[in-house]
Amino acid sequence: DGRVYEISQMISAKRIAARVEALGAEISDSFEGTDRLVVIGLLRGSFVFIADLIREISLPCEVDFLEASSYGNTTTSSREVRILKDLRGNIGGRDVLVVEDIVDTGHTISQVMEFLRSRGPRRIECCAMLDKPSRREVDVHAKWTGFEIPDRFVVGYGLDFAQNHRNLPYIGTVRFLDSSEEER
Ligand code: PRP
Ligand code: MN
Ligand code: MG
Repeated sequence: DGRVYEISQMISAKRIAARVEALGAEISDSFEGTDRLVVIGLLRGSFVFIADLIREISLPCEVDFLEASSYGNTTTSSREVRILKDLRGNIGGRDVLVVEDIVDTGHTISQVMEFLRSRGPRRIECCAMLDKPSRREVDVHAKWTGFEIPDRFVVGYGLDFAQNHRNLPYIGTVRFLDSSEEER
C-alpha cells in the first residue's frame, strides 16, 4: 500500500556479524564430529542469514532450501503452513540445521520442523536470527537465537516489508507516519 514510513536501525551490521560469528562457533561445537550436516534455509527471509552463518560454521556442510507458504493476515491460532518448494536432497539419517530469519507466532517453524522430522533425520535443530517471544501462539523455540526482540515490525538482513528492504545490511524497525498513528 501507499503508507508512509521510516526505518530506524535497531541492530547494526557490526552487532549482527559478531553474533553470527558466535552462533557459528556454538553450532560447530554442537555438531562436532558430524560428516553429515545439512543446513536448510527457509525462503525467502533466511537467505542473507544462512549465507553469513555457513561461513562461520567450521564443519563440512551441504546447503538446501525449503519454501513454506505464508498464511496471510488471519489471526487464528490454527494457521496452516504449506510447502511450496521442497528440498532438493534427502535428509533421512542426516544431521540437519534449519535456519530462519525470525520466529514470530511460531507457526512456520513448528510446522516446518514437524514436516522435516517426518523424513527421519538423525538430528534436527533450528537456529533463528530473531525471536519475538511476545507474539508466540505455538510453544516452540529455536535451539539457537541471534537476538530476542520486542514486538516491533522489523526489516532488513533478509526480512521484508511488502518484499522490500531485504537488502538492508542492518535490522531496522518500521515506523508508520500516518497521521492517525503519529506520536503526540
Ligand atoms: C516470515 C518470516 C518467517 C515467518 C515467521 O516469512 O520470514 O519465515 O514469517 O512467522 P511465524 O513465526 O508467525 O510463522 P514470510 O511468510 O513473510 O515469508 P518470507 O520469508 O518470504 O518473507
Ligand atoms: Mn520467512
Ligand atoms: Mg515476509
